[in-house]
Formats: sequence, C-alpha cells, structure tokens
Amino acid sequence: MISADDDEPLHVFDLPQLYTKPCAADILEALELLRVQPRSFGSDGPDAVKGRTVQSVGVTKYLTSIVSSALSWLESDDLREAVWDAASARLSERSGRTAMGAMSRVFTIPMSSSEDFTLTLHEPALTSDNLGMKTWVSSYLLSRRLHSLFETTPELVPATSPSVSRNKAGKTLRALELGAGTGLVGLSFAALRGSAASIHLTDLPAIVPNLSHNVSLNSELLSKTDAIVSTGVLDWSVAPEPLPAADERYDIILAADPLYSPEHPKWLAQTVGHWLSQNLDARVVVEMPLRDAYSPQRLEFRQLMGTLGLAIVDEGEEVGYDDWESADGGSLEVKCWWSVWGWSEKI
Ligand SMILES: C[S@@+](CC[C@H](N)C(=O)[O-])C[C@H]1O[C@@H](n2cnc3c(N)ncnc32)[C@H](O)[C@@H]1O
Repeated sequence: MISADDDEPLHVFDLPQLYTKPCAADILEALELLRVQPRSFGSDGPDAVKGRTVQSVGVTKYLTSIVSSALSWLESDDLREAVWDAASARLSERSGRTAMGAMSRVFTIPMSSSEDFTLTLHEPALTSDNLGMKTWVSSYLLSRRLHSLFETTPELVPATSPSVSRNKAGKTLRALELGAGTGLVGLSFAALRGSAASIHLTDLPAIVPNLSHNVSLNSELLSKTDAIVSTGVLDWSVAPEPLPAADERYDIILAADPLYSPEHPKWLAQTVGHWLSQNLDARVVVEMPLRDAYSPQRLEFRQLMGTLGLAIVDEGEEVGYDDWESADGGSLEVKCWWSVWGWSEKI
C-alpha cells in the first residue's frame, strides 16, 4: 500500500519494487497514480493533477521494468495481463496524445459573470491524423469568449427577447460551425443561445459520428435550454451543388483552429462564401492559435476573406495553455487570435 498521508510528490522508489514481489493490487494502485491526466485549458494556467503525484525521474524505467517482467509470482495470467496492460497504457500516455486512449473530458463554460455550465465531450483515441478527435485550445478560448461576444456584437443576438428570437428578416437565427471536431464551440453556442438560434455542427465524415455522440452526451443540458442542434458532413474542399439558396445560408459561421494545411485558407474562405448569408448583419467568428508555422495561412485567409467582401468588425488576442504538451507537468502557453467578420459594405 502506498502511504497517502502527505501531499509531497512521491519518488519512484516509494512505489512497489518488483524485487520485493508485490501483489497485483499494489502494483495496479501504483500504476493508477502514474496515469497522465488531461490538463485543463484554463486561461489562468493548467490545473494541477488531483491526488498524489509521482516525480517523473525514473518513471519510464519503472514502467519498462514491469512490462518486461514475467511477473511469475502473481497468481494468475489474468492478473499478469492486467498489470502489463496498465503499465503499457502508462507508457503510451508518456508518448504524447496520439498514443493515448479514448477519454471523456468536462469543460466549464461561463454564461455570465455569475453562472457557468459544463459540457462533457468524448475524445476517441487519436488514430491517423484525425485532428477533430480531440478538443483544441482555441475552441476552449472561443467557447469561453462567446457570452461576452454576444454582449459586444449585437448581430450575434438579434433577438429582442429571449423567447422571441428572430433576425431582421423575421426568421430564426441560423448558425453553422465549420470543422467542429468534438463540438465544444457549437455546443457552447447552443447552450448559451438556447432556442434563440439553431446551430448545425459540421466536419469531415470520420469526425461526425463522435460529434453526434457528443451532442447526445449533453442532451440534458441542451434540452433544458431548448437548444436546436444538428450535425452533418461539410467538407470545405467540395463546393455545394447547386449553391445554397438564400434561405439555406447561415447568419453566423463559427470556426476554431481551422488552418493547418496550405489548402485550408482557400477552402475555408470559399466555404464561407458559399454558406454565409448575404444579409448585412451576417457574421463569421473565428479563433486560431498564432503558431509561426501557419502565419502564411493566416495572412492568405485574411486576404481571401477581404476578396469575398468581408472585413474585421472586432478582433483580439488571448492566451491559453496546450493540454498535452508535457506528460510531466510542463505547460505551454499558446497565443490565439480571435476575429469577428462582417460584410464590408455595411461596416
Ligand atoms: C485542429 S482541428 C479543430 C477542431 C475543433 N474546432 C477544435 O478547435 O477543437 C481542425 C478540424 O477541422 C476539420 N477539417 C479539416 N479539413 C477539413 C475539411 N476539408 N472540411 C471540413 N472539416 C475539415 C478537422 O476534421 C478537424 O475537426
């Protein structure tokens, strides 16, 4: 048994050592302590991992020694398998997010200065390069920013009363999220706006099943607020045919962290061009990390949005923290840029 009577991090030598032939329960307890927890994206820094922690020095060697041991003193093959599986999982977690298994995460989103709500999102194990299987820092920052954007950008809240939410043309406000991933931004929007708007969360075919699953995971919250949410495939590289009619277009388009390949600026801008309402109150809200490697993409995106006739109404920068950068407690600041766009004719 590992002593739990103080808060000091343990050293790997405090864990059960194999030469003492510890029982399976004790080894499994130690392996549980070595689980790498997802960090919070919180703008005031990542949360500390709850409970007893273990210094990182020697942990990989400790785990490798368990995986390579025959564990011959344990009573059954089942116990040996359980120990090997747990030790292998702890090693994988230390190989970065792509090697981690599936998990569910809870995000807290502010509604106003006094109220918060929580969303639970499932993140499947990351296989291949399906980046939409995890939640990214700029989507967390944008979700937390939404309620204040609603205050500063009246076009995002055209309702005169919460129960009668209509835009100037007398229709219900329609919102679209592009590259929704696990759905944090779109679901936050839905929970905040309730029946004031409908939102359609979209992504590539491989991502949409988990996106839909995340909508159902939060159905209790969404039904409490009468939110109108749907999901579907929308691939930016494919132009819709025929082009959407005026009443199929959206009053608001949201996107978080959408630019990470050379084609993305062109595809994203063209998708905005196809789906954004021509109504002069229409808005696009985008947030993305200011990573040096993608500054040409950001510049191209800005230029292409300008070519479409869109201009920035409001913008800013803010700092978040990447969640998977380090297995051993290091946090990495990420500066992000948010922007709200409208038709320049009106501005
Ligand atoms: C970095 S992830 C961001 C996901 C989510 N918005 C977030 O911030 O957590 C980029 C998202 O864009 C989606 N994406 C990439 N290329 C796309 C395309 N051609 N059409 C639609 N979605 C695409 C990916 O599947 C992924 O979900």
